[in-house]
Amino acid sequence: MGAIENERMSPQIIDLMNQRNCDSFYNKEKSVDILKAYADRGGLASGCDIKSIAEYLPKSGNLLEVGAGYGRVIDTILKSGFIGKIVGLEKSERLYDYLCKRYDDRSENVNIICCDVMKYNPGYKFDIITSLWSNISDFSKTTQLDYLERLSFLMSDTGSLFLDVSVSDVAPLNASAYDKQTFQVEPQDGYFIEGYIPSVDEISDYVEKLGLVIKLAIRYSTDTGRQRLLFIFTK
Ligand SMILES: C[S@@+](CC[C@H](N)C(=O)[O-])C[C@H]1O[C@@H](n2cnc3c(N)ncnc32)[C@H](O)[C@@H]1O
Repeated sequence: MGAIENERMSPQIIDLMNQRNCDSFYNKEKSVDILKAYADRGGLASGCDIKSIAEYLPKSGNLLEVGAGYGRVIDTILKSGFIGKIVGLEKSERLYDYLCKRYDDRSENVNIICCDVMKYNPGYKFDIITSLWSNISDFSKTTQLDYLERLSFLMSDTGSLFLDVSVSDVAPLNASAYDKQTFQVEPQDGYFIEGYIPSVDEISDYVEKLGLVIKLAIRYSTDTGRQRLLFIFTK
């Protein structure tokens, strides 16, 4: 059965690589420190990705931040004057605990949930979905269409999906190996992440299969001069 038929049934596909990345990196003791160091090194710590699409980001509504990490995106969006409701979804229990400590008392507009996005179904839809800093690359090539399908399922008919990816012809900054869009990162002993960077053609193909529209596609430069791509999709 194809991915499109699956959408109607809200598939709960668990990608093995995605699960491994959680076990061998995101859920480990030093994940926050390492993510912060990588955001600094990659020039994303200031939230320049979100700032580059600020004019397209509504100031209110119901926003889902997929894979909220240590809160980089949530922080930038709150600082931008966003007055809507934010759900920060996080699969790693360790990062979830960290996010709860940071936001639960501070903002009644931020709700942190620990769940795999592929299983998440709150029973309502989101006006804005952010999947930034290569979240899609945490899913293997064969599951990336299912990942976007799940985000489309979670998005309202008038909503917007913001997707950021690395450029697929350049090795990611921290990669220890890169071949045919597949990379490995070994931040330190016992820590390991792998990923797949979709090409623009693959993204266009996913979007067409899902009946989404590319409202915007930009190439932007991070604070440390890394080139990245940002897309806005609508239904
Ligand atoms: C590279 S970090 C990006 C963090 C944040 N979005 C940002 O831009 O700063 C990827 C995050 O996605 C989370 N993640 C990975 N797979 C996930 C899944 N299936 N469901 C929910 N979160 C997931 C990871 O635990 C990690 O926090």
